[in-house]
Amino acid sequence: MNYISINEIKAWDRFYRANFVNCLSGFKPASLIGTINKEHKPNLAIFSNIIHLGAEPALIGFINRPLAASPHTIANIEATNQFTINHIHPSFVSKAHQTSAKYQAGISEFDETGLTAKYRENFSAPFVAESNIQLALELVEIISIKHNETFMVIGSLKDVYLDKELLLNDGFIDIQKSGSIVSLGIDAYYSCLPVERFEHAKINTEPAKKQIV
Ligand SMILES: Cc1cc2nc3c(=O)[nH]c(=O)nc-3n(C[C@H](O)[C@H](O)[C@H](O)COP(=O)(O)O)c2cc1C
Repeated sequence: MNYISINEIKAWDRFYRANFVNCLSGFKPASLIGTINKEHKPNLAIFSNIIHLGAEPALIGFINRPLAASPHTIANIEATNQFTINHIHPSFVSKAHQTSAKYQAGISEFDETGLTAKYRENFSAPFVAESNIQLALELVEIISIKHNETFMVIGSLKDVYLDKELLLNDGFIDIQKSGSIVSLGIDAYYSCLPVERFEHAKINTEPAKKQIV
């Protein structure tokens, strides 16, 4: 096994380092976050630092990079208190990746990529019509992480849109069947294969296998 010290990592070219460090936390759930500004212009951007924060209340957070790097999504959420999270599938992964380009404020990444904005009653932020799993969230808190000028944006789950066939009778969502991709590093996307499901782990008991989809 090779040893790499943090001092060695710090001395690397910044893109090499970004790739390397981004891979270290493993595969991540890349999704498209849809928002709208005060002038009703939609914005769409790909995010992979998305975290389940708890089921009761149902909270999902994501990490927004420093404002100079990723300004629009967070500004729109602050202005409107709403955002959507939309899973990505292989059929539109290149369009999803393209949303990470530095478009000017007020330019719609829906228009630029050809992805379809879907609006629903009682919610102003746009969903991605092509996505098989779409979530509506309301802002509850933005935590400023001073150490690297990033932000944790926390949303409270409001609505979920998915096909009934994806939902199993114990609440598990067959995300593999939905074809949602995951990401690795800053530019790679993968499909997932099932490995195993288990019953709730108990001390001094062999993990009991569960039917996997
Ligand atoms: C695979 C991938 C994952 C990304 N994940 C994040 C992320 O978690 N947080 C973030 O702030 N930017 C992330 N980005 C960069 C944003 O997509 C990019 O900065 C985008 O322009 C932000 O747009 P906005 O200013 O409209 O919010 C990611 C880019 C790629 C390609």
